[in-house]
Amino acid sequence: MARILITSAIPYINGIKHLGNLVGSQLPADLYARYLRARSHEVLFLCATDEHGTPAELAAAKAGKPVAEYCAEMWQVQKDLSDGFRLSFDHFGRSSSAQNRALTQHFAGRLAEAGLIEEVTEQQVYSVADGRFLPDRYIEGTCPNCGYERARGDQCENCTKQLDPVDLINPRSAISGSTDLEVRETKHLYLRQSAMKDELDRWIDSKTDWPVLTTSIAKKWLHDGDGLQDRGITRDLDWGVPVKKGTEDWPGMEGKVFYVWFDAPIEYIACAQEWVDAGKGQDWERWWRTDKGANDVRYVQFMGKDNVPFHTLSFPATILGSGEPWKLVDYIKSFNYLNYDGGQFSTSQGRGVFMDQALEILPADYWRWWLLSHAPETSDSEFTWEAFQQDVNKDLADVLGNFVSRITKFCRSKFGEVVPEGGEAGTAEAELMQALQTRLDAYSRHMQAIDIRKAAAELRALWVLGNEYLQSAAPWTAFKTDEARAAAITRTALNLIPFYATLSAPFIPDAAAAMHDAMGTAPVWPDDTRAALTALPPGHAFTVPDVLFKKITDEERADWATRFAGRR
Ligand code: MF3
Ligand code: ZN
Repeated sequence: MARILITSAIPYINGIKHLGNLVGSQLPADLYARYLRARSHEVLFLCATDEHGTPAELAAAKAGKPVAEYCAEMWQVQKDLSDGFRLSFDHFGRSSSAQNRALTQHFAGRLAEAGLIEEVTEQQVYSVADGRFLPDRYIEGTCPNCGYERARGDQCENCTKQLDPVDLINPRSAISGSTDLEVRETKHLYLRQSAMKDELDRWIDSKTDWPVLTTSIAKKWLHDGDGLQDRGITRDLDWGVPVKKGTEDWPGMEGKVFYVWFDAPIEYIACAQEWVDAGKGQDWERWWRTDKGANDVRYVQFMGKDNVPFHTLSFPATILGSGEPWKLVDYIKSFNYLNYDGGQFSTSQGRGVFMDQALEILPADYWRWWLLSHAPETSDSEFTWEAFQQDVNKDLADVLGNFVSRITKFCRSKFGEVVPEGGEAGTAEAELMQALQTRLDAYSRHMQAIDIRKAAAELRALWVLGNEYLQSAAPWTAFKTDEARAAAITRTALNLIPFYATLSAPFIPDAAAAMHDAMGTAPVWPDDTRAALTALPPGHAFTVPDVLFKKITDEERADWATRFAGRR
């Protein structure tokens, strides 16, 4: 058995995330974690809220709350929603934790000792009206790269280019809208990523199995233009990790904090400490220090494409630059964007479905199934209500749900609520098992490789095989002439329910649990289809479960389409 460390990009604390955010990181990470646990591997699955920086400060100001209080409240909101979506984190931490503060300061100290931090006196945008410097999102303007008019000082949402506030065209304050801006001098720390360019380049080159989306973005940052640039890692803000060199003060940096993108990935490590300090685990170093056992760990990260530069370059530069034996990522699964009905999800316009709204209208499994089976892996994908209604009704209600309900009800009416005895498996069963085995092997292969759409397609095909078998074996017809044959068919079909429940659990955990519950079974991963399909002995009692999936009506679909279209 292997040990796998899994992290999802940690969501910004401000606001509730939409379904595009969910399917771009947390949800696929959860799928993978659940799959590996089901295969008896030892998994540590971590996520947290990303609480520092301008997004948090701006959102707290808008909510009229002290930023620490705002973050504590929003952490709980996000935690409850992740529970609602059944995201099975071993710990959901906070980047504002004491553990992360100490670890971030520690890394900065090590990097300084290694000569990888430069102190730079530079020009920054100062807002006269606001009486402060305007880092990152405190400033908005036109992107110099693509012309998008609402680019933020740190990154353009439209073309994903990382920006410097002084690059923006027609800049304005995001606090007051004031354009009365001037450039003043201030001192900041820079991480000398450029000094590590060759090492990073070689490291990326060694990752021949990574998704092209991941490596192509990394390569672009390494080689485009003047190549990898040094990165400012401090800010003139109040909220964040105070700049220190380990535990010592940093002369000239008083009153400044580390840039959110410096401390956020370090939270992946701190989160493991939080997990231990919360009494949920034993030894975090075993997962993170290669001198303490983490050499045996496979570390897999999940994230949207806009996060890739930080995870392929900046964070590895921090880790490698420290000169300490920290675990480096082994595999980065990145995602394109999910669009909403011909456009983008938009928080400001209330366009698209957000995590809280999704759970108000349908249970988590419906969303999990649709989103994962349409994960934007090789290109952007699109949510439409038509597709959602059609796929959910077909895959979940007509195929899986109908299969379970049909066979359990048939058995109850003819044989009672026990697995019937008598009859023998014949060629139809042998063919079924053969076909299932082929699909099962493919399913496992795709799950192992985190090819999510392909895995979903195999799972759907597995469900379809059961339906087709039931349709053609037709125990209701057989029953009229050959009761023993009908019993054998029914027994086989009933055995498919725990088989499906176990295989489907990573996608639809609640329905899977209901299926096991009804059948009085526990999940055991089916390596061998024949063994799995004869596991329930004659006489084993079950109950007919409630309807697993109800269909989405045309009226509901139309309603929701209007409700989530957004304000104009
Ligand atoms: N908060 C960032 C986002 O939502 C992701 C941070 S990931 C980490 O885009 F590496 F910083 F942890
Ligand atoms: Zn742009």
